[in-house]
Amino acid sequence: MGCCIVGCGKGLPALDVTNDELAQLVETSDEWISSRTGIRSRRISVEETSLDLAEVAARQALGWDGEGAGIQGQPAFAAEDIDLVVFSTLTPDALLPSSAALLRRRLGLTNAVSFDLNAACSGFVYSLSVTEALMAASQANVGGAGGRNHYHRALVVGAERLSRITNWSDRNTCVLFGDGAGAVVVEWRDDAPGIISSYIHNDDDTTNSLVCPAAFDSSFAFDEQGVNAAFAQDPALLLADASLARVDEELGVAEGVAAGEPRQAIRMDGQKVFKFAGNALTNAVLEVLERAGLTLDDIALIVPHQANERIIKFAAKKLGLGLEKFQISIAHRGNSSAACVPMTLCDAYESGKIAPGDKVIMVAFGAGLTSGAVLYEA
Ligand code: UT7
Repeated sequence: MGCCIVGCGKGLPALDVTNDELAQLVETSDEWISSRTGIRSRRISVEETSLDLAEVAARQALGWDGEGAGIQGQPAFAAEDIDLVVFSTLTPDALLPSSAALLRRRLGLTNAVSFDLNAACSGFVYSLSVTEALMAASQANVGGAGGRNHYHRALVVGAERLSRITNWSDRNTCVLFGDGAGAVVVEWRDDAPGIISSYIHNDDDTTNSLVCPAAFDSSFAFDEQGVNAAFAQDPALLLADASLARVDEELGVAEGVAAGEPRQAIRMDGQKVFKFAGNALTNAVLEVLERAGLTLDDIALIVPHQANERIIKFAAKKLGLGLEKFQISIAHRGNSSAACVPMTLCDAYESGKIAPGDKVIMVAFGAGLTSGAVLYEA
């Protein structure tokens, strides 16, 4: 028995931006981007919100677009049967309510509880791990007097509009990111193992290698003396919140902001993140295998976070695996953070690379520094 993946879907914005087009914005080339990252184009939202993309992915995963639930043989699910929505994003459309609550409302999932989870690019793997733990714990209550919510079927989503927090004049970062959403439906089944093991992990980002400060653009009414008298007279007055400088200092971004860059933009030390990523990916794969008592020979496919094709190649070499063991979907999408793993999983199902009974590992790493993996039987 266990938490089984029974539906999957993805949602992508319409606009496709090529490397050649990016070369009109920053000093770069298709040759540099494709040879260093494997990326040739990425989807960018112009009109679509994070929630729009998530809705498309979720409807597909629920089997509401007329095609079944995205996994062969899975019929559509009823709205009232979903009792949990976990939404992973670092680019929500709103701070309140949560993206999960907004998605719940749009889809009419009236029996679901919902919350967001931010673990950067590892968000979807964290969300699946947490969902599985909640489900397993709630099973202990079935038929008993237990004092917890009961979870039987959940919608787990990763959706991002990274284009909103990308500095489009920074060639070190802007060539890497894209927008999109992926979703899965998971269901507790008594006759299948589903998720066999999971591993979520944190290191410290001691050098601020991957950060993005939050931008709050409202005026601040207070100073060290209390209510600011000038502001009380004229609420249109723009007063800076003195703590913002401390946030920037904590994140090591003061210099960039001073140079006139957008404050709320991803800043990255690519080489440091690259080094962390290759090792984190490898370690997470080995950890879930050990926890499951399995070896790499038991695994049919690895579905990794899509940050850079070279990171996947590095991990493949370290693990002694051929690239055919990995689903690689980076060429026309780039890195869309928490959306990458579920979208890539959908690609694998769509191309028939996952058959019933196959053992699959999803693995991710990201800012924080977070990393993690989930091993399941399809
Ligand atoms: O989800 C997790 C988030 N991020 C990641 O996982 C990213 C991890 N890091 C990476 O993928 C790679 O480090 C990058 C793709 C970001 C960069 O590749 P790299 O091979 O590490 O390049 P580099 O930073 O060492 O830069 C090499 C050169 C530099 O020029 P000089 O100093 O050698 O003259 C850069 O200024 O390439 C230059 N460069 C570019 N040139 C053309 C950096 N970005 C570009 C660009 N186009 N877009």
